[in-house]
Amino acid sequence: MTIPAEPRGIADPLVLLSADREEAQRHADPWASLCVLATVAPDGLPEARVLVLRDLDPGIGIFINASSPKHHQIEASDTVGVLIYLASIGVQYRLQAGLAAIDPETVRAGWNLRPEIPKVMDWLYETRAPQSTVLDSREALLTLYEEVRDTLPNDLVAPAGATGYRIEPRRIERLKLSGERVHERVLYEASNEGWTHSVLVP
Ligand SMILES: Cc1cc2nc3c(=O)[nH]c(=O)nc-3n(C[C@H](O)[C@H](O)[C@H](O)COP(=O)(O)O)c2cc1C
Repeated sequence: MTIPAEPRGIADPLVLLSADREEAQRHADPWASLCVLATVAPDGLPEARVLVLRDLDPGIGIFINASSPKHHQIEASDTVGVLIYLASIGVQYRLQAGLAAIDPETVRAGWNLRPEIPKVMDWLYETRAPQSTVLDSREALLTLYEEVRDTLPNDLVAPAGATGYRIEPRRIERLKLSGERVHERVLYEASNEGWTHSVLVP
């Protein structure tokens, strides 16, 4: 029986993640630029949601509004879960990570490139209703949206609540589906000496 070889690039799983995302991008995989962020709500229940996964220089990050429930959950905990599934190449990453606030200038520069609707929504969260507020109806939301849009100046800038976080992984687990062969699963853990790795039963 042949045991599959060690995965390539074991020295730095972040390099491996970056190479895998680039490969998924070449396959036009929409998941190459997305992740799932898992947090714990104040009542102890888990919450997960899809977010755009941004390329930073260096590293990866997420952009969210400070009015949202997830922002409060991030601030209340030093660890979040991040899941990245690259369907086109059959690779899953499960991260446990800290989140470090991105400097406001970088956030503002990224915010300026956003389309109109998310920009207006950020101002709506800031001035009228925090993200995830319960409203009476979709009509109420659209009325609110138009009210906010019509009061905003042309030279719009990011509100204070537009925030970004750099993802700083401490544990990275990579599962590579291997078709007819045994899947490949490796756990990488950050230590003072760099990354250690262990092979896990897939
Ligand atoms: C494809 C996709 C991309 C998304 N990207 C973001 C994002 O980058 N930032 C964000 O705050 N919400 C994003 N969302 C919306 C979130 O999944 C979520 O519904 C919203 O942020 C409210 O989450 P919360 O109530 O847990 O705070 C995205 C949703 C989808 C489906």
